Amino acid sequence: MADQIRVLVVDDIPETRDHLTKLLGFESDIDVVGAASSGREAVDMAVRLSPDVVLMDINMPDMDGIAATEQLTATAPGVAVVMMSVQGEADYLRRSMLAGAREFLVKPFSSDELTSSIRQVSARERDKATRLQVVPVSAGGGAGAAGADGREPGLVVAVFSPKGGVGRTTLAVNLAVAAATELGKRVAIMDGSFQFGDVGVLLNLNPRGKSIADLIPELDAGETDSVDSFLIEHTAGIRVLLAPPTPETAEMITAAGVKRVLESLRMNHDLVVVDCTAFFNDTTLAILDSADIILTMLSLEITSIKNMRLFLEVSEQLGYENGKVRLVLNRADSALGIRVADVEHSIGRKVDETIVSDGRSVVYALNRGVPFFLSNREAQVSQDILRLARTVVGERSTKAETDESRKATQKKSLFSFR
Ligand SMILES: Nc1ncnc2c1ncn2[C@@H]1O[C@H](COP(=O)(O)OP(=O)(O)OP(=O)(O)O)[C@@H](O)[C@H]1O
Ligand SMILES: [Mg+2]
Repeated sequence: MADQIRVLVVDDIPETRDHLTKLLGFESDIDVVGAASSGREAVDMAVRLSPDVVLMDINMPDMDGIAATEQLTATAPGVAVVMMSVQGEADYLRRSMLAGAREFLVKPFSSDELTSSIRQVSARERDKATRLQVVPVSAGGGAGAAGADGREPGLVVAVFSPKGGVGRTTLAVNLAVAAATELGKRVAIMDGSFQFGDVGVLLNLNPRGKSIADLIPELDAGETDSVDSFLIEHTAGIRVLLAPPTPETAEMITAAGVKRVLESLRMNHDLVVVDCTAFFNDTTLAILDSADIILTMLSLEITSIKNMRLFLEVSEQLGYENGKVRLVLNRADSALGIRVADVEHSIGRKVDETIVSDGRSVVYALNRGVPFFLSNREAQVSQDILRLARTVVGERSTKAETDESRKATQKKSLFSFR
């Protein structure tokens, strides 16, 4: 079948090769196209067989998995490498990622972990390939034109992270509240995690009958006139566009539709904060593309750092300008054995903003459905959020001071891919 995932297995131990080949043989969507016993053989076979995924052992005589991955990244960049290694080799993980591996499996792993990693990297790779060919939907005069009441269109800020659970929803919600309550901005927050959105939970809102799902018919028809009527007013002074109540509905939301919603929200608010999912699907990419600023969150965990490196590569390929992607390190003070300087060294970039760890305030607020920025305004974590909000909103005023025509040109380039 054309859409099968073609896998090349690489391991110097014959039993492991056989075992992996047999295991993958049970999966109807995976086709093992070959098995190599060394790094050198892997590179030859990969060039000949063009697999989608190479399952690569790290320790092999002759050429090891890292050197082979480096060669593959240079000669066959479309091939996604999943590295396999034994436990306790954190340094290998770093080196593998630097070499260009897309995923890292620690032996022993379950067959579920194996197949889901293969499916994920292959889906990501295909998504990226399609994405790079797609001509983007135009911004439609959005950010360059004046809003309905003659005001400047607002700033769209996407809160993203290439790894789940690092605090995106927490930041998105509290940032929105801080900008509304302390900085007096008209703020909308959109839950862009369409399948499993949590914004409603953090704000204690009942999604019934009012979410982006209700806009789907209009979006399909190319209209967004009633976006405002599906926003929920929150007592903190922000307006909320919730994710659909059921995950199935999420699939009906298109990239073009999302762009239209954002342009519409931008017209009536100073700031539009979007809580994104942690993977690259077409709607997330539409949000990132429309955003003026992408607050990209990471934590002091090796998996988060690994994914950040990959994201920074992708954002460069997508043509996001310098300054559009901001790195926000959450729980920056956690004593987890990795220092901020290590992170910066590993990703080759400075962290722009940091937020302290404060499990007490954050989790207490989460469970009560009240943003901590409201309930614990004096806490350091709230201060950090406010500082970030000021920086982000300051961006708006700096922009407002710039010459109109220059801005229009800048906008144009922001919305186009290379
Ligand atoms: N600065 C912080 N200090 C302490 N705990 C935090 C902090 N930020 C987030 N958390 C906690 O980390 C967990 C994950 O946060 P959150 O749900 O915001 O992350 P997410 O990136 O949106 O996750 P998901 O992938 O589920 O959408 C929550 O339990 C939250 O309370
Ligand atoms: Mg979330």
